[in-house]
Amino acid sequence: MAGEIITIQVGQCGNHIGKQFWSQLAEEHGIERSGQNKQPDNDIQREDFTTPFFKQNDENRYTPRALMLDMEPSAITDLQNYFPGFFDTRNSWIVQDEMGAGNTWSKGYDCGTANEDIFLNMIDKEIDATENFEGFQLLHSVAGGTGSGLGSSLLEAISDRYPKKFLSTYSVFPGNESEVVVQPYNTILTLRRLAENSDATVVFDNNALLNLTGKVFRDPKTDYDHTNQLIAATMSSITNSIRFPSYMFSSIPSIFSTLVPSPDLHFLMPSFTPFTSDYVSRGNTYKQNNAYDVLLDLLDSSNWLVSTKRENPTYFNVFNTVIGDVDPNDITRAMTKIQQRVNFAPWASKMVHVNMGRRSPYLESNSTTNKKCINGMMLANSTSIVSVMDRACKTFDKIFSKRAFLRTFEDGNLFQNGQEEFIDSREVVQNVIDDYLAAEEDTYLDEVLIADENMFGEYTTATNQVDAEGDNNMI
Ligand code: GTP
Repeated sequence: MAGEIITIQVGQCGNHIGKQFWSQLAEEHGIERSGQNKQPDNDIQREDFTTPFFKQNDENRYTPRALMLDMEPSAITDLQNYFPGFFDTRNSWIVQDEMGAGNTWSKGYDCGTANEDIFLNMIDKEIDATENFEGFQLLHSVAGGTGSGLGSSLLEAISDRYPKKFLSTYSVFPGNESEVVVQPYNTILTLRRLAENSDATVVFDNNALLNLTGKVFRDPKTDYDHTNQLIAATMSSITNSIRFPSYMFSSIPSIFSTLVPSPDLHFLMPSFTPFTSDYVSRGNTYKQNNAYDVLLDLLDSSNWLVSTKRENPTYFNVFNTVIGDVDPNDITRAMTKIQQRVNFAPWASKMVHVNMGRRSPYLESNSTTNKKCINGMMLANSTSIVSVMDRACKTFDKIFSKRAFLRTFEDGNLFQNGQEEFIDSREVVQNVIDDYLAAEEDTYLDEVLIADENMFGEYTTATNQVDAEGDNNMI
């Protein structure tokens, strides 16, 4: 049985994404925005599994296992107004006497370390309400001040305090044009913590998201609410097998361990299609499709939620979820095709993991003639992600080479002795890029083995455990 996951939403972007994520989960589990069950539990035989993400009280009221943190009140207030009585009021924290981190990573980071005990106390209380606590998911942007800086200090504190618990992040990268001049600094400083402290990071970027929203919503005037619906659709599909249990992929670590061959390579690229109205407002109308087409469409970069310039990337692992009335033969055919089409690293197993997800009985499409529509989500670990990191490094180098705009960081505790924190962080990100490129070679596993024999031993064990769970759709 899957353990509980605590979601931590930090900053404006993190809390906005949280709003769409909880909306989607509430829909899929038949829960009102107030937390009440849409139908009394005794009226229906629940086949879904709410415990990983929700607490339930004696009056059949559901409460998200979520913490909401910010340095200004608007995003959390908006969330609480939208979901009256849904969230545990003890779980929101807004700093007093500040109006945001002013897009400055060091302000967010110092605020995070100053209040670390408060956050860990909130987390401990939330863990007390679990029976089989499994891990965390952090939602944030890497470019502002709070989600990046406070988020970074939380990543360090959590991995220090709960080293055995799985720590995943859903991290939004900025678009091409920096809205704020210091965004490249914030991004590199945060990337260092993602590289060092997260077990798996699902990357989104606002270039790709904004391009997709235009297409999906067929409206040139889209905003963050729209982009966040795309993120929420992806997040809900990743967790489908946990909430609508099947024989395989029954926990978050079992999903991510199919994708992360070594701790250095844990940045994942998401793709989703089609965005129908089960997932987004004004989404495409349903049309009959099949799992074969959907699985191949997921490889098409126009459906990716990350923009990449890297042509013909090298893949290490692929995980798909297909939701709907799927013909298993279509999956087998698609797997063969994907193996031919995708450029896998020479050492990779070329296994494509497919979860045959279940559609929520509460969603509109399940009760209508639209049952024939299939939605698909792909998470890929590949060198496409190098493009996002390259972009971050280039914009960083441009301003750091001139030592421009550093004054805003001077008061930060980590910057009292100069600029070493910038130089070290840039080096960590370069190492991630180099690791991804080295992993294209067939000698990669030998190098990993030499570098850390123990780590490789653990990895083999973890993979075997996943296989032993009965992953009968691996090809
Ligand atoms: P401060 O405002 O400095 O306190 O930090 P913050 O973390 O609250 O800032 P924010 O989350 O607004 O981060 C800024 C970055 O996130 C920019 O790149 C924005 O484009 C992006 N962003 C902000 N809100 C959203 C959102 O709801 N969705 C998406 N996709 N991106 C967002």
